[in-house]
Amino acid sequence: MNNIILINYSKADYRLRKRSHLGRIAAYKYSTAAAVEEPIKPAVNVEHTKLFINGQFVDAASGKTFPTLDPRTGEAIAHVAEGDAEDINRAVAAARKAFDEGPWPKMTAYERSKILLRLADLIEKHNDQIAMLEAWDTGKPYEQAAKLEVPMVVRVLRYYAGWADKIHGMTVPADGPYHVQTLHEPIGVAGQIIPWNFPLLMLSWKIGPALACGNTIVLKTAEQTPLSAFYVANLLQEAGLPEGVLNIISGFGATAGAPLCSHMDVDKLAFTGSTDTGKTILTLAAKSNLKPVTLELGGKSPFIVCEDADIDTAVEQAHFALFFNQGQCCCAGSRTFVHEKVYDEFLEKAKARALKRTVGDPFKSGNEQGPQIDSKQFDKIMKYIRSGVESGATLETGGEQHGKKGYYIKPTVFSKVKDDMLIAQDEIFGPVQTILKFKDLNEVVQRANNSRYGLAAGVFTQNIDTANTLARALKVGTVWINCFDVFDAAIPFGGYKMSGQGREKAEYSLKNYLQVKAVVTALKNPAWL
Ligand code: NAI
Ligand code: MG
Repeated sequence: MNNIILINYSKADYRLRKRSHLGRIAAYKYSTAAAVEEPIKPAVNVEHTKLFINGQFVDAASGKTFPTLDPRTGEAIAHVAEGDAEDINRAVAAARKAFDEGPWPKMTAYERSKILLRLADLIEKHNDQIAMLEAWDTGKPYEQAAKLEVPMVVRVLRYYAGWADKIHGMTVPADGPYHVQTLHEPIGVAGQIIPWNFPLLMLSWKIGPALACGNTIVLKTAEQTPLSAFYVANLLQEAGLPEGVLNIISGFGATAGAPLCSHMDVDKLAFTGSTDTGKTILTLAAKSNLKPVTLELGGKSPFIVCEDADIDTAVEQAHFALFFNQGQCCCAGSRTFVHEKVYDEFLEKAKARALKRTVGDPFKSGNEQGPQIDSKQFDKIMKYIRSGVESGATLETGGEQHGKKGYYIKPTVFSKVKDDMLIAQDEIFGPVQTILKFKDLNEVVQRANNSRYGLAAGVFTQNIDTANTLARALKVGTVWINCFDVFDAAIPFGGYKMSGQGREKAEYSLKNYLQVKAVVTALKNPAWL
């Protein structure tokens, strides 16, 4: 991912500077006063704010709306429809009809593949507008959304378009005079709930495999970030997706998310978000119709720097692993374990790198970090920073708000962190790097695994035996060796322990959306075989 940012930078930067509104901004010089400058107005209009049900944009049945906020100011960007149980019912009915009667699951797989490819083409064509909405709604740097995330959405949809016509069952060599086959069939109506940290990317991880397999969908966006999904909803008809196949509801967890999870006519759930909400969702599924659930939840991922690591690369990657996307990543490398022999050098360089990090308006070219998503997350992060200081960790840099407006936080580094401190145990989900010291590999494996989470890990070493041994010993869903946050549509992602259930992306994700039917036919004349 990091590499992709670097490789694409100059070409895309040139494109950005050609845009008039960003051209003007390029004239500003960066300074720490950036956050008090007037927010830059993105060159995009918010055109779609209504629920998308059965191929139409419609008001909520209640008529209610709620504001989606700009994290740079805390002020409303737009008011969007507030879906609740009645809207979920309408959307599920549309998805049910599209599944039971509609052309979608009955269409040839090749047709479905072509529609997914057309959708990917349209998103690619609208890359910059979508990225602007995404940056505006989330506070993430526009360049990150435009050069990395929306292109990855396109890549994921094309990947699953490629799978659509390669999904098939087996012929099984069972005992006895039987001809045995398995049929791989779509499950039905999928309920999907996504978070606010990578809104459209999470949408693609969810809808790609579900649609490729022939399911229909009701997707609920996060209340903080409804805009990019509505923009994409407007492209579905042009892509050729039949009405009712993908329905998109904006609304809150308790009033729109929970009714979706409890719905008796929803056949499968997929969720990305907090571990606590994941538990609620599993309970709602169990108490209703026992629909299967896949969960992508929290993490406290270790980033292990061995004594033989290339320190400069490790410092840069550890910085990226934690601070990327304002630290709002489920797989953030949020426990940086550094070997005692290189600890002092690493710490000094990590602190210098954090001090160099450019924080400010996400629409200003070159800014690496924007504001946190909302006041709730801002307050939570500040509480953890206070807890770090109170528990005796050393605050090396940062630790306070950046500027005076919005939810910006200075890149923060703690040293002398101990395993039993809250900042070393809980998911902070913010720009707070905690650096711990270790003596030997046995010890660090034990400490790294001593967590309720098990999402990912980074290992930095030049020794292939150390790399391979740690890769096997760490109880996590992804191990990145001498790299971090390398995502690809073909690489599975998911967690051990309380980081989740099941895997998304790659071929693995298909089985979340398929039923396997065994068909056993008695053979009349086994003597011929
Ligand atoms: P959350 O897990 O409550 O929200 C994520 C999604 O779940 C949203 O769409 C929300 O509306 C929905 N939701 C909430 N309650 C629900 C319910 N009872 N039934 C059905 N859906 C429900 O996370 P939140 O409150 O936004 O953030 C809290 C913490 O969660 C963060 O500080 C962070 O630690 C973690 N988080 C992890 C993410 C990840 O990528 N794994 C993403 C977002 C948050
Ligand atoms: Mg918002």
